[in-house]
Amino acid sequence: GGVDITLRVNGRDRALRVEPRVTLLDALRERLDLTGTKKGCDQGACGACTVLVDGERVNACLTLAIMVRDKEITTIEGLARGDRLSPVQEAFLDRDAFQCGYCTPGQIVSATALIAEGHTRSAEEIREWMSGNICRCAAYPNIVAAIEDVAR
Ligand code: FES
Repeated sequence: GGVDITLRVNGRDRALRVEPRVTLLDALRERLDLTGTKKGCDQGACGACTVLVDGERVNACLTLAIMVRDKEITTIEGLARGDRLSPVQEAFLDRDAFQCGYCTPGQIVSATALIAEGHTRSAEEIREWMSGNICRCAAYPNIVAAIEDVAR
């Protein structure tokens, strides 16, 4: 069974056959080997699985793969340009904005959208717009500092 779909991920068309209930998260990780996107809660509560769909932040664990077949999907693997990290990736490194690193891909994808949308006028606003991305190690001050560096 299953449905033949094409997902456009990080600028590349990827053909696959999926059962209609398969999430975008599982399609990315298990079918397309894009394991940078992390599975935390698998129920929309932690943000570890954040990807961009047509530039908007989405929890990939709550999104069915078949629903995004005509969209532009960007994962953490799509942010760097060759050997060049994205500005947000550089800032997270500079600011030590992670400890265990598990939530980091989701944090960086989320921050990338936040900065593009301009929700960075204050640390408070950044914290509010990043509140869907949970960090168990509580690296929040450094995450906010990294985002401020890029937004400034
Ligand atoms: Fe999707 Fe937690 S794994 S929000």
